[in-house]
Amino acid sequence: MKIFLDTSDVNIIRKYCETGLIDGVTTNPTLMKQVGRNPVEVVSEISSLFNSDASISVEVVADSAKDMIIQAKQYHSINKNVTIKVPCTYEGLKACKKLSNRDIKVNVTLIFSFNQSILAAKAGATYISPFIGRCEDNDINGIDLISSIRKVFNLNNISTKILAASIRNIDHISESFKAGADIVTIPPKVFEEMYKHSLTDQGLEQFNKDWKELNK
Ligand code: G3P
Repeated sequence: MKIFLDTSDVNIIRKYCETGLIDGVTTNPTLMKQVGRNPVEVVSEISSLFNSDASISVEVVADSAKDMIIQAKQYHSINKNVTIKVPCTYEGLKACKKLSNRDIKVNVTLIFSFNQSILAAKAGATYISPFIGRCEDNDINGIDLISSIRKVFNLNNISTKILAASIRNIDHISESFKAGADIVTIPPKVFEEMYKHSLTDQGLEQFNKDWKELNK
């Protein structure tokens, strides 16, 4: 059960890494645009915060598998913990197969159907990313999708990891893990909501008050 951060903000990633609870990072072109910096520099800084067991997903943007592979090699040369993200398209799947054959980890992203996940697994993907929030936006049950993928991956001993993405709230996190996701990638503001609870705050206030009175 792993937790990734879904952001390209190096300062935020550095801060949350201090918890020791973060196993990796996912980025995408939109998240890169939000920070407005050179992606190669950003990837270099993020990947240096983690050891070689971590996974830092970086998306290639190109029309052909050939061009995706050229970009992938550039990113992968930065650090071994960089995972290449490709879209679940014909060219993306071709690139996935070729990169996987060269032992480069690939995350097939923008997964909205069971059939997409099967092709991505066949293409040797290390990760597939079903987009839970966007499924919900389009009346697709993303949690059922994860359950179906989990069932068939288990039946066929498929080692591709299910990485639940497009997480908008804490219920998406718990439901994704319950449905069998291996990893959930979480926006920083949703991570904040994971540990907070009003009853924890109330209980702590009382404990602190009682402790002070005892030690008067
Ligand atoms: O992990 C994918 C994510 O960044 C997309 O999230 O909220 O734009 O659908 P969202």
